[in-house]
Amino acid sequence: MNVKEFSVEKWMNTYEMEAKYNLAETCVDSLSLSKLLALSDEPDEFFRSLFDKKLTYGYIDGSPYFKEGISKLYKDMAPENILAMNGGIGANFLVLYSLIKPGDHVISVWPTYQQLCSVPESFGADVSLLKLKPENNFLPDLDELKSLITDKTKLICLNNPNNPTGALIEEELLMEIVEIASSCDAYILCDEVYKGLYHNDNLTVPSIVDIYEKGISTGSMSKVFSLAGLRLGWIAAQKDIIDECCKHRDYTTISCGMLDDIIASHALKNYNKILERNLSLVKKNASILENWVENEPFINYIKPKAGSTAFLKYDLPVPSEKLCIDLLNNYGTFLVPGKCFDMEGWLRIGYACDTQVLKKGLSNLSEYINKIKKTA
Ligand SMILES: Cc1ncc(COP(=O)(O)O)c(C=O)c1O
Repeated sequence: MNVKEFSVEKWMNTYEMEAKYNLAETCVDSLSLSKLLALSDEPDEFFRSLFDKKLTYGYIDGSPYFKEGISKLYKDMAPENILAMNGGIGANFLVLYSLIKPGDHVISVWPTYQQLCSVPESFGADVSLLKLKPENNFLPDLDELKSLITDKTKLICLNNPNNPTGALIEEELLMEIVEIASSCDAYILCDEVYKGLYHNDNLTVPSIVDIYEKGISTGSMSKVFSLAGLRLGWIAAQKDIIDECCKHRDYTTISCGMLDDIIASHALKNYNKILERNLSLVKKNASILENWVENEPFINYIKPKAGSTAFLKYDLPVPSEKLCIDLLNNYGTFLVPGKCFDMEGWLRIGYACDTQVLKKGLSNLSEYINKIKKTA
């Protein structure tokens, strides 16, 4: 099996540990166990139950507590519609491994999490990219989507909210995409790991699985719950799709780790408190970023509507990878180059980190820009 290098993951693996001001990270400022428990009503009881557990494989496809908690995040899902996997990355992989065969046609939005295109390609699918363009606010163009459909189209991959752009496909547009998918009987896999991180309080956007029979939603404890260390994600789908995934899962995953499941189930009980903490941080930091962009003449962006990342367009005579390496070496500030998304002249910023880290990282980027402009 031939697979392309996963550019963003390679970038992160190579440099992330050197970063003092990590603006490449996409999680909302991660929680420690003690911070998670401080948000909860029953920490002593929780720890006792944790320490007394025998460390078996635990529940194979996710505990009833976990699946029940996750099912409540959807309008119309029962616990049997939920399948636990190792992170959103494991959930996406299992869906693709279960559905895609050589010769299938897959359409995926781009830029996005590269896994959604490169994994189906590695399974022998013919993959078409539906380019998200700044002039269209990084939203899918429906005529272009229609023009990509063939009689072999099996799956359309979306990522809503989108990493890296922070664009959000709202209900009306999502319904039109569903109509197009339905016209060719294609599945839609929607990676929803940033779901709920909306910058406008009045926004609600449905999960694909709640509006389309062949819709498959993937989610994760990493971003919205700030618990990436748990390595727990899930698939939400109709039962026949979950069954197909279970058949394939037996070859890759026995269970996801009972300690991770117990901690995740505990976090789910405190979902509202965690979301409140995280929305407040995301909105505060997004407005700091907006202010900074407005005052930085060589940077522009399409203001993100959701998620924890934004895509910055810069006007400097430096390739994106060199810029990011210089910035890391000289200022300890870490970003992701547009090159990782085949988009030169752009940078991905993750702004949902600690606010002081964001402020210092942005001021370092300003210093770097001024230095370049003086010498150019
Ligand atoms: C869109 C998207 N999907 C999936 C993942 C994988 O995250 P995890 O496996 O931690 O849930 C990421 C991580 O950055 C992501 O941005």
